[in-house]
Amino acid sequence: MTTVRLNSADPGSFDTDALIVGFRSGPEGPRPATGAESFETAFDGKLAASLSAVGFSGKSGEVAKIPSFGAITAPLLVAVGLGESDDTESLRRAAGAAVRSLVGTSRAALALPAETAEQAEAVALGALLGAYAFSRYRTNGEQKNPVAELTVLSAEADGVTERASVLAEAVTLVRDLVNTPPSDLWPAKFAEIAEQTGTAAGLAVEVLDEKQLKDGGYGGLIGVGQGSANPPRLVRLSYSHPDARKTLAFVGKGITFDSGGLSLKPSASMDWMKSDMGGAGAVFGALIGIARLGLPVNVVGYLCLAENLPSGTAQRPSDVIHSYSGKTVEVLDTDAEGRLVLMDGIARAAEDQPDLIVDVATLTGAQIVALGWRTSGVMSNDDEVRELVVEVAGAAGEGAWGMPLPEELRKGLDSPIADIANLQPERWGSMLAAGLFLKEFVPDGVRWAHIDMAGPAFNKGEPHGYTPKGGTGAITRTLIGLAERHAST
Ligand code: BES
Ligand code: ZN
Ligand code: ZN
Repeated sequence: MTTVRLNSADPGSFDTDALIVGFRSGPEGPRPATGAESFETAFDGKLAASLSAVGFSGKSGEVAKIPSFGAITAPLLVAVGLGESDDTESLRRAAGAAVRSLVGTSRAALALPAETAEQAEAVALGALLGAYAFSRYRTNGEQKNPVAELTVLSAEADGVTERASVLAEAVTLVRDLVNTPPSDLWPAKFAEIAEQTGTAAGLAVEVLDEKQLKDGGYGGLIGVGQGSANPPRLVRLSYSHPDARKTLAFVGKGITFDSGGLSLKPSASMDWMKSDMGGAGAVFGALIGIARLGLPVNVVGYLCLAENLPSGTAQRPSDVIHSYSGKTVEVLDTDAEGRLVLMDGIARAAEDQPDLIVDVATLTGAQIVALGWRTSGVMSNDDEVRELVVEVAGAAGEGAWGMPLPEELRKGLDSPIADIANLQPERWGSMLAAGLFLKEFVPDGVRWAHIDMAGPAFNKGEPHGYTPKGGTGAITRTLIGLAERHAST
């Protein structure tokens, strides 16, 4: 695992393999960002011109490498564009993009604008997240190691790197789980990892197996999981603090593989469905992070784990299941399985009498249609809660946008024989219909938000900023941020 430290040394004479320096774009080419002004002199007034010559303009995300030929102690100068904006997310992204370009280098130092503790933390976090690599399954030695030792050059005191390290560790844990193929991560295996890692972090962990789920009336988890030889699990992780005044409950969709079940998905939509446990991943990562930070708040996390496969024992379209809440559900489409495991998780979480329930799920393709790959949809039964979740996600640099729960869509979920159906007959608005379905399982008077992160959980495209290809660890930091907002002060 990559480590990060702070150092107040002069960047020009700092002993490292690569020095990362921030630039902004200007009408006359790249301009050094705050703290980088002295490099132009060190490079005999030729740095900006050399960078322009290699096509670097200082735009956000751009990276250019220039050998220093002794102008500074580091043999390599890595210029990174900060774009126009001054916010912490642009620092995180620049640090991430620069560190990502340095795979195979052992040490790197970052001379980016980091005059405040907040900025120094952003640089440290972006750098750590950019240093991520998933090479567990490479045997040919092709994949080089990410930067091992990072130094943020800043006059700021220590301590800021600690939160960055905890956040990066939580996100890394989630990315690893999402990237792990379903042959190595099935419900019981995920539960075992949660039990081990959770207990080591000081969490109380309970795991319900398929027999306990059946006896306990968790019809959704049982129904979705019954087609697989790997039976379902419900994991409850709980963190408590003596000074806590608030209790939060997080519920994550943990489908370790979503084939669609008998309502089978087409192949092209299936290969990345190992990421369908990203919500449970985020909940798990967040609980580990919250425990490591020792936040004065109580948090319970539920991982709703099942594998959705077709077989002779699989649930059928038209089956009716009895949910944990007591409501009956007609399963019209076995591919709308996320809501079936979440309805049980949400109803169980409500028994903890939390001040707020937040569920996180790779729930609908419609989220991607509406908001694209990088912006999660946030729905709630309370306007203030929805706005809070969107704001906290925004501060973490995790794109999220408020979405409505229009009452007129509810009748589309009417079932001719059960209390509710798991599918509305028409395609339009199906992210919202899924939200309305879940709302039915939130008891009256309980504040609840639903985050649909079908797109943001998994990056099918090229890496960008601090986000790698594959599992992103999205929403983990939003959940930690929500716990911080509910911590006693
Ligand atoms: N896991 C999928 C949603 C998904 C799609 C996640 C793409 C990530 C990327 C979910 O279980 C699903 O299949 N949803 C269906 C619901 C439909 C049958 C109502 C969908 O969105 O098509
Ligand atoms: Zn599905
Ligand atoms: Zn799914």
